[in-house]
Amino acid sequence: MPSSTTPFEPRVLAGPPASAGPERLIAHDLRLGRLPSPSERRNLTAVLDSSGLLGRGGAGFPVGHKWRSVAEHSTGNAVVVVNGAEGEPRSAKDGTLMGLRPHLVLDGALVAADAVGATDVVLYVGREHTEAHRGLAQALAEREPDPNVQMQLVAAPVGYVAGEATAVVHYLNEGDARPTFLDARPHERGVADRPTLVQNVESLAHAALIARFGADWYRSAGRLATRGSALITVSGPNQRRTVREIEYGTTIGEIARSAGGAPPGSTVLLGGYFGSWASLDEVQDEPLDPVSMPEHGLEFGCGVLSFLRSDACGVAATAEIMAYMAEGTAEQCGPCVFGLASMAQATRRLSSGVAKGDDVENIDRWAGQVLGRGACHHPDGAVGMVRSALAVFRDDFASHQVRRRCALNRADMT
Ligand SMILES: Cc1cc2nc3c(=O)[nH]c(=O)nc-3n(C[C@H](O)[C@H](O)[C@H](O)COP(=O)(O)O)c2cc1C
Ligand code: SF4
Repeated sequence: MPSSTTPFEPRVLAGPPASAGPERLIAHDLRLGRLPSPSERRNLTAVLDSSGLLGRGGAGFPVGHKWRSVAEHSTGNAVVVVNGAEGEPRSAKDGTLMGLRPHLVLDGALVAADAVGATDVVLYVGREHTEAHRGLAQALAEREPDPNVQMQLVAAPVGYVAGEATAVVHYLNEGDARPTFLDARPHERGVADRPTLVQNVESLAHAALIARFGADWYRSAGRLATRGSALITVSGPNQRRTVREIEYGTTIGEIARSAGGAPPGSTVLLGGYFGSWASLDEVQDEPLDPVSMPEHGLEFGCGVLSFLRSDACGVAATAEIMAYMAEGTAEQCGPCVFGLASMAQATRRLSSGVAKGDDVENIDRWAGQVLGRGACHHPDGAVGMVRSALAVFRDDFASHQVRRRCALNRADMT
């Protein structure tokens, strides 16, 4: 059994180096031991509750609670969807996990299927994540078919919204990855009208380890009230994108230093395109913790930390993100479609030195009008990000507003 030691040892990413490719079944079983049988893990949902495991798709919802809601509606006919869409452009954690530890992900799906009463598992994996597809396909081929659970690998469409839970269900039902206005929620009526658990890949990998080693083992990592470990994707200021596993409570400053250091005045995008900008000087000592960060106006989200080079322009970086978010709407809610497009155009004008007189003011006003007015949280994520940009890059927005192109007019995020 792995133990929690100081310094922190990876858990879901423990095992052979990345250069070895997807871990084979025999190596996986030797390293972790066999998965407890269904009778041995009969109270797994309660164990997940005790562990405090939170979902890793961005919202941090308690995993045990979600399994119970699906089980309550299941008559043994539920579906488990492993959400590996990973449409967030700055995140690489789910693709990395599926590509390197596919059997851990499959174990997680199997224990979830057993706990919620499911006969089908759908591995919904962004079609652009080729290593993940390769790893999972190889892992499926290595396993004896489970007589009780069918597993199917599905290529998810590319795009930010395609990973939203109701869009996932809509895609699997009708081939169209748009969020739905909910008259029923997936845990009640999802794929093929059956109770459906949509769970992030990383959440399931942690569940597979908890099924083996228990809640106390899981809780032995973590520095503050939120327990356990998490995958993060770090990029910039001096290094390309890397995926790492940290224990919750590790500070943003520690990550910055281990990423090669960030000069004074640097900024960081926390939580990805749904997240928030922050001045590194101000958040050095902030623990990476999905519960405490929002209390300080920050987002852990899906664990993205993207450092902006100190010679790069925050307005240009924000314009790049807003353009992506505006293009990525599912084109069905007016405030989201038109609001994000207007905000993206205004941010682009500002970054290009051709601002209209009231662009900054309008971005803030439109943000207020868009918030909470979509069928999904896509516009809310964009609003949070752009509002944090207006605050953190206040002086830059003000100088761009008077049509000054800054000398650093490029986004330069790795
Ligand atoms: C616009 C949008 C995009 C999302 N994309 C993903 C995604 O790519 N992967 C994911 O796991 N969750 C994504 N989510 C969150 C899912 O809706 C859902 O909450 C999650 O898959 C549940 O898994 P978890 O409880 O393990 O986090 C997205 C949510 C929104 C609003
Ligand atoms: S809020 Fe935006 S992204 Fe979400 S369903 Fe409506 S148009 Fe699509």
